[in-house]
This record gives sequence, C-alpha cells and structure tokens, in this order.
Amino acid sequence: MSSIAVVVLAAGAGTRMKSTKPKVMHELGGRPMICHLLASVGELSPEKVVVVTAPKMESVQRAVAPAEIAIQQEALGTGHAVAAALPALRGFAGDVLILYGDTPLIETATLRRMIEKRRASETCAAVVLGFEPDDPAEYGRLVTDAAGNLTEIVEFADATPEQKAIGLCNSGVMAISGGHLESLISAIDNRNAKGEYYLTDLVGLAIGRGLTCAFVRGAETELLGVNNRAQLAEAEKIAQMRWRASAMRDGATLIDPEQVWFSHDTKLGRDVVIEPGVFFGPGVRIGDNVRIKAFSHIEGATIGDAAQIGPFARLRPGADIAGEVKIGNFVEIKKSRLEQGAKVSHLSYIGDARVGAEANIGAGTITCNYDGYDKFVTDIGAGAFVGSNTALVAPVKIGDGAIIGAGSTITKDVAADALAIERAPEAQKPGWAARFRALKQKVVK
Ligand code: UD1
Ligand code: MG
Repeated sequence: MSSIAVVVLAAGAGTRMKSTKPKVMHELGGRPMICHLLASVGELSPEKVVVVTAPKMESVQRAVAPAEIAIQQEALGTGHAVAAALPALRGFAGDVLILYGDTPLIETATLRRMIEKRRASETCAAVVLGFEPDDPAEYGRLVTDAAGNLTEIVEFADATPEQKAIGLCNSGVMAISGGHLESLISAIDNRNAKGEYYLTDLVGLAIGRGLTCAFVRGAETELLGVNNRAQLAEAEKIAQMRWRASAMRDGATLIDPEQVWFSHDTKLGRDVVIEPGVFFGPGVRIGDNVRIKAFSHIEGATIGDAAQIGPFARLRPGADIAGEVKIGNFVEIKKSRLEQGAKVSHLSYIGDARVGAEANIGAGTITCNYDGYDKFVTDIGAGAFVGSNTALVAPVKIGDGAIIGAGSTITKDVAADALAIERAPEAQKPGWAARFRALKQKVVK
C-alpha cells in the first residue's frame, strides 16, 4: 500500500497505571506495548512513522527507533498530540493512520481495511475504527444517523445518557486523508468536560465542512485500550491466546494451552511438547522434538533437537543446550554451553561453563563461578562424570573422561581420564550408635 504515514500517540501521562514508567512501555509478552503496535504497522511499509511523546520520555524514544519523534510539550489531549506531529508530516499528501500507543493488539489486516475504505471515496475525510465491547465502559461513542453514517464521536465525559447507551465505541484508530489533516486538526478546540483537545472532534468538524466520515468495525480482542493494570492483564491474556494458537498451528503440542506463557518472540520447532506451568521470557529458540516438562522458567536460551527440560528447570540467558541434552528438576543453567547428550539431572547450578558431550553431572553439583567481584569459567570435558554434591571452584578445567568423586570441592584442573577426589578420611566406630542410644535412654529415665 503506497503513501501511508503513521502517527502513534504516546505522550499521555498514563496516570491510571499508577507507574513511574510511561504507559506504552508496559509490556505484553516481554515487549513494550508500543513496539507491538509498530510491528503491526511495519507490515504496511509506511512512508513515515511518527511517534508523539512527552518531553522526557527517553525510554519510549529509544524503544521506537528508528521512528521519527515529535514532542508534545504538554498533554492537552489527543487532538493536540496529533498537532505536534504535523510538522513532521508537512508535504505528505497520502493517508495518515492515527494510532494510540495504548491500543497494542490491532492487526494489520484491520488497518488495511480502513485505508481501503478511506480511499473508496474522494469526499471521505476520515475512517474511524469502531467496536462493540461487552462493556462499553468509558470509551467514546460513535454517533450515527438513520442511514448508519458516522456523524460524530462523543467522549464519555460529555455524553448524554442516551449517547452513553450506544454500544458502538471508538477504538481511537483513525485513517485521515492527508490533504484535510492539517486544517481539521487546527480547528479542534478544548471546550468540553475535560478541557482537552479531542482528536475525536475531527469527525464533527469534517461533516460541518461538507466532507464525510465513515467507520469500519473491528473485534474487541484487537481494540482493547490499556489504561490501567487490569486492562493490561486483559491485553496480555489476548496476546497469549494468539501466541498459543500460533504455536499449535505450527506443530507444537501444548497439553493445557492456558498454562503456557510465551514471550512475543518464542520460536518452537516441530513436535515440541510443552507441559503445563511453563513460562518463556524473551529470546528463546527451541528445536524439534523437544519436551519442556511442567513448571519450567526459560529465557534467553537455545535448545537443540530432542532435548528434555524440567520439570522445575530454570534456563537463564545464554543457556545454549545442544541436542539430546537432559536437564532435570531444580537445575539452573546460566550462560553455559551444554554439548550433545550431556546430562544434568537434578539440583544443580551450572553458570559460565561448558559441559562436554555426554558428560554426566551428578545431583547437587555447583559451579562456583563468582567470588563476589568477578565471574570465572568452568570447563568440563566430553564424557566426564562429576559425582554428586561437587563444588567446582572456577576457573577450573575437568578433562575429557575424568571422574570426580562425590562430595569433592575441586579447585585444581583435573587431567583427562583422571580421578579427582577431595574428602576427609571417613571414620567408622562399630557399636557406637547402640551405645549412644543406651546412654540417652538412661538419662531420660
Ligand atoms: C481515547 C478516545 C476515546 C476512545 C479511547 C479508546 C479521545 C479524546 N478519546 O480515550 O474516544 O474510546 O481512546 O481507547 O481521543 N495521548 C497523547 N497526548 C495527550 C493525550 C493522550 O499522546 O495529550 C495519547 C496517550 O498516550 C494514549 C492515547 O493518546 O496512548 C489515548 O489517550 P488516553 O488518555 O488513553 O485516551 P482515552 O481516555 O483512553
Ligand atoms: Mg486510553
């Protein structure tokens, strides 16, 4: 679609979120709301994307790069915010899509429908995206005439009781003809209940000038506006439903889809099985035939084909798990490469390490990678066998095929195929326990 410019409004204070963070930086699936929106918009290949922010919203400005930034000095309303973007749009004659940064679930196909409708008529100044939510709450209402044409948008605070009874609501998304944009926006005033410049007044103004406005309908699930934490949770739920559906479509089994939480960028291979209670943070890539067992937390990790993870595993950023590796319960892996077929089956911490192919790490093994100041590397060779409850004090190297006796604290490099064992000699005192019990019983009587 040629000549589209996009303006995303994100300068509002978001007071209802009760947060120090700008509203549009709150995340869905680990990615700021506004970035979701920009991803959907990107598929239209717009000529220009302008994001309107408040003066000190550096975090938003960084997150939306390379979009152009327009600064709205004071949040005086959505109409005022669009006015702040006008200098960036000067000379642009195509269609301008206005989106709200707090309405992140909109789908590209819906935006396309709006542009098509706008272009279908020469006199059409704007197309508004309407929806009929189960609870119209405090959304603006779309007022239509007997023929069903859009005549006005009325904000909840200014609506009469009859207008409040209208179920058709304003999503905030508008496609405006670039040729009319500047003069209509400049005509918006702030004579209303909130004393704000409402973008929504543009509809009434256009009609007053003999132009027309139209609306298209969208689904509530893509038009939810996030103003508070409850709506943020609602939006997350919808986003998760989409990711779950897409994972299953692409060949993953989710035993109970509602108990798997994806990140926006989780990548799954074929025939992956995910058990209930699994949470993915950003940056996870999973190969084919992998099973992620219940209650595992996985972020920033790559997992090779036919690996088995969990239950109750934690894979942190930089966990690089090769094919057929087995990670068992209560195992934490950070910034470590586990090579083909390695096993860490129970209760271990592996950080800043390499674990060679087919090595077996016993229960309770800890890589002691941190001295309070710096991090050090543990290198475990292929086929090594590390006995239970071993502390590997990094930097340290265990050669290929070496065996470490259970309970050892290893501080020196171990040669390939050697046995290293570090234990106090064990003492045994025959009959001691029986004598001890007899003594205690006498004292009690
Ligand atoms: C707005 C609409 C309402 C619609 C609803 C849909 C107006 C006047 N009202 O109300 O009809 O039903 O969205 O969710 O447009 N913003 C700025 N600068 C400002 C004010 C707001 O950039 O001065 C941005 C906000 O960051 C936000 C968006 O515009 O991303 C919408 O603002 P918000 O205050 O949430 O408007 P609503 O009250 O939700
Ligand atoms: Mg809002």
